[in-house]
Formats: sequence, structure tokens, C-alpha cells
Amino acid sequence: MTKKILITGGAGYIGSMVSTKLVQQGFDVTVIDKLNYDPRSLCHLLHYKNFHFIEKDILDKKFIKSIIHKFDYIIPLAALVGAPLCEKFKRKALETNLNAIKFLIKNMKKTQRIIYTNSNSGYGIGDKKKYCDEKSPLNPISLYGRTKVDAEECVMKFGNSITFRLATVFGYSYRMRTDLLLNNLVLLALKNKKLDIFEPHFRRNFIHVRDVADAIVFSIKHFNKLKNNIYNLGMSKANVTKIDMVRKIKKNIKDLKIKYLVNKKDPDKRDYYVSNKKIEKKGFKAKIGIDQGIEEMIRVYKMKIDYKNNY
Ligand SMILES: NC(=O)c1ccc[n+]([C@@H]2O[C@H](COP(=O)([O-])OP(=O)(O)OC[C@H]3O[C@@H](n4cnc5c(N)ncnc54)[C@H](O)[C@@H]3O)[C@@H](O)[C@H]2O)c1
Repeated sequence: MTKKILITGGAGYIGSMVSTKLVQQGFDVTVIDKLNYDPRSLCHLLHYKNFHFIEKDILDKKFIKSIIHKFDYIIPLAALVGAPLCEKFKRKALETNLNAIKFLIKNMKKTQRIIYTNSNSGYGIGDKKKYCDEKSPLNPISLYGRTKVDAEECVMKFGNSITFRLATVFGYSYRMRTDLLLNNLVLLALKNKKLDIFEPHFRRNFIHVRDVADAIVFSIKHFNKLKNNIYNLGMSKANVTKIDMVRKIKKNIKDLKIKYLVNKKDPDKRDYYVSNKKIEKKGFKAKIGIDQGIEEMIRVYKMKIDYKNNY
């Protein structure tokens, strides 16, 4: 029987890529999204019979309750994403990122399966320069981070669940995000031919958005092998500092000027190595590296599309 998948927030940066892969592989995919950003992000799927789009707010409890039982897998991606956006709309952030997940879980049957995406950013707050695995404590400093950690806890208590703690995502998606570190540095480098870098030695882990989509497809295909566990999801080779990244960008944009700002502090305190061994041992390994991502983003930005950010 064809597996029925519900993706909330499926028109977003990650969601549009996940929906595309799942539809192309023959799954029956339903997306609920209120199209906050790029309304074209799923148009390329509208001719598929196994794709269904519903423009709705996930905070519409009556509606969610009426359809939730129809699906084998739930992938709740709808959220207010990122610390700045959640600071601006605190109440909405709590309702969307945490309360809506609690409501979903409360109304799911025990046999239904849920795949959740958290951020790994909270590892970096505390013990810096440490190799973080899934047992390292998450101590988020932003409202965004706290709502995601609390929601992860609810999802894992439900039982039939998998959580991915994502590295910083990069690369092109049908709904572009230019605020993500690599995407943003490449955009600024092309536009200004100059980058001002603060806290240049801060290190993070990265992953391409197509690898994230592949990991989610993998987790559906191997759900029993992966279930009831949390996995870091990043590319092991891509534990890189801002300096490493900027040098790689300069290789492609020769006239780029780089200035290191000594006194400016990064409000995002991430500075850590992340281990992705747990998911790699289960058989999934990210493939697309930072260099490939930089080259891709340069080509994307040269298409002169004006991308809208979410804050
Ligand atoms: N992109 C990353 O680097 C990253 C890292 C870790 C975790 N995540 C998580 O992955 C998920 C997707 O992130 P993204 O980067 O694709 O963000 P995004 O902002 O591109 O996508 C979110 C989508 O949710 C929709 N949405 C928001 N509120 C809604 C509501 N009330 N009803 C219906 N739709 C609503 C938006 O319209 C948007 O299409 C989020 O849960 C985020 O916390 C993302």
C-alpha cells in the first residue's frame, strides 16, 4: 500500500525539498501550509496525482483533528523559524512551534509515526570546543531554541518517533532562505565584494538541504531501524569555522575583500564540533560538501531573483 505522508510547513525551505523527493518516489504526500513565503515553491508538484496541497493554518485545531488520523507518517515542519522571528512574534512562536506539536501528538493514533526536525544549535551553549553527540546537553538561549527542544521532548515521549537535530542547512531550495550562514555569506560576498567577519574562529556543522531531504526519505524507508531515537544530522567533514568558509568563498570570488572585526561579538554563541556517527552507523551519510554548496549558491544568485527573507 502507498504510504500516506502529511507534511506541515511543506512549502518551506526544507519542506519543499522533502515534498519533492517524496512525491517523485511515489509516496502519497499532503502538504498543509499557509504560504507565508514563496507561494510558487510547490507549483512544480501540482500536476502529480499523488500530491495534495491544503492552504490552512496548523493552528486550526478543528481542521487538524478532522484529518490527522488519515496519515501513516507526520512530518511537522511548520514553525516560526529562527531566533529573530520568534523574538518578534513571541506568542505565535510558542503556539506554532510547541503547542501545535502537542496538539498533533494528542490527536495521533499510537500506530502513526512522526519524524521531527530540531536544531543542534543548543549544543554550542556551554561547553565550547567540545565534540557534541546526542547525549550532550542542549541549552538553548533563544525562545526559538527553547520551543524546539520542548517540542522534541513531547515527540520523543510519544514513542513512534524519530528526531533529527540538524546542523546549519545550506543550498538552494524552491523556497529560498538567504539568512542561513553559508547562503548569506555568499550573497553578501557577491553583492558587496566585501565581508566583515566577527568571531572568525567560531565553528559549526553544516548540511545541504538536499541531504536533509534524503535523510528524511531514508528515515521513512528504514523507520523501524531508526525509531525512538534522536540523531544529529550534519556532514561530518563539514565541521568548519567561519574563516574556513570565507576562504572557500574567496577561492570562487577572487576580488573579495575580507575584514576581521576584533571587537564585535556574535549573538549566536555556537562554537563546537558535532558528531554524526550515530546516523552514519544506521546507513545514512550526507554527500554534498561546503565547496559544492558555495559553487551552487554563486550560480543561483547570478540568476538575479529577488529573494524575500522571513524577518
Ligand atoms: N533550516 C534550518 O537550518 C533548520 C535547522 C533545524 C531545524 N529546522 C526546522 O525545520 C523546519 C522547517 O524549517 P525551514 O527552514 O524549512 O523554515 P521555513 O520558514 O522555510 O518553513 C516553514 C514553513 O511553515 C509554514 N508555516 C509557518 N506557520 C504556519 C502555520 N501556522 N500554519 C501553516 N503553515 C505554517 C510557512 O509558511 C513555511 O512554509 C522547522 O520546524 C525548523 O525549526 C530548520
